[in-house]
Amino acid sequence: MKLLVTGGAGFIGSAVVRQAVGKGHEVVNLDALTYAACLENVATVSQSPRYHFEQVDIRDAAAVEACIARHAPDAIMHLAAESHVDRSIDGPGVFMETNVMGTFHLLQSARALWERKGRPGDFRFHHISTDEVFGSLPDDPAVKFTENTPYDPRSPYSASKASSDHLVRAWHETYGLPVVLTNCSNNYGPYHFPEKLIPVIILNALAGKPLPIYGDGSNVRDWLYVEDHADALLTVLERGAVGRSYNIGGENERSNLELVETLCGILDRLSPRSDGKPYAGQITFVSDRPGHDARYAIDPARIREELGWRPSVTVEEGLERTVRWYLDNEDWWRPLQDRQGVGQRLGTGARNDKGR
Ligand SMILES: NC(=O)c1ccc[n+]([C@@H]2O[C@H](COP(=O)([O-])OP(=O)(O)OC[C@H]3O[C@@H](n4cnc5c(N)ncnc54)[C@H](O)[C@@H]3O)[C@@H](O)[C@H]2O)c1
Repeated sequence: MKLLVTGGAGFIGSAVVRQAVGKGHEVVNLDALTYAACLENVATVSQSPRYHFEQVDIRDAAAVEACIARHAPDAIMHLAAESHVDRSIDGPGVFMETNVMGTFHLLQSARALWERKGRPGDFRFHHISTDEVFGSLPDDPAVKFTENTPYDPRSPYSASKASSDHLVRAWHETYGLPVVLTNCSNNYGPYHFPEKLIPVIILNALAGKPLPIYGDGSNVRDWLYVEDHADALLTVLERGAVGRSYNIGGENERSNLELVETLCGILDRLSPRSDGKPYAGQITFVSDRPGHDARYAIDPARIREELGWRPSVTVEEGLERTVRWYLDNEDWWRPLQDRQGVGQRLGTGARNDKGR
């Protein structure tokens, strides 16, 4: 199959690109190469004759249209997005432009291509979204997000992703475009950009810096290893029912404090501090994120029962693999720490973007 993957130079998109090329698909990686992108993420497949790269900004409707028309893919997997909640608090404008309008441009171009091809039933527009569209859950293990949970986004990021989900469903209902949607929990793993919680903790620990935890660290997230997410996405692309959405999660709920303590324990074993003291001593509580959702947890029954998908690694295995990867790949993460905003406290609610 010829796949066009948007955001393929990012964290999850690059895992999809690597797996898809590995499975024999032809892949066009469409990415604007924003601050969050890194073409090294796809270095292992970039010499393949089945891999192509297009530097295109999805905010540019004409460029999107030309690229999709030129490559005429069999399926589009849409991951390109502004993805960092803290940045969305400081500067929501680009989240609306990329996540909402960019998705609109892709849908219009995908629809035009699909109609030119004669409306094939096996064409797919796969929209990759987040569990954050569902809002925040109470502290009750029996309550989880299902595909029927009403939308209740609470940050500019999640509101922009919720909007894009609605557009995708509307293009299916109105124009018949064969779409599938997925909403996934928090990912972690290799190539995670060093502004997100897990890499921040690993890299700050190694640098002897404070390990910042927002609020009291009680916020709960449901963690999934990125390679398992990519595998789930390709499963849904290949076997998901048209018009259907699938929640993807690892059933690995951890509070942020538990997660950081686990990472500290792994680091204590794999790369002990020179003074022999535990890394947990570097934990520092900082002011909370405005509107910080208390708990996310996915009920993955639909994808498990209908498509037979399950994660392949436990969170303990995945976190250990991730720590080892960062210990072995300083050449990857060191230069990224100089990118704009990385290492700074963002998203405190201060307007620093002149209203955008
Ligand atoms: N990270 C998570 O835990 C998580 C969980 C669930 C869903 N998601 C969703 O998965 C997708 C990928 O997330 P990620 O963590 O890999 O993000 P990321 O920030 O690591 O990568 C995003 C990629 O999109 C590209 N991009 C951004 N704006 C663009 C534009 N205007 N035009 C073209 N390309 C652009 C960037 O250059 C980058 O390569 C997003 O849609 C996100 O909402 C992420």
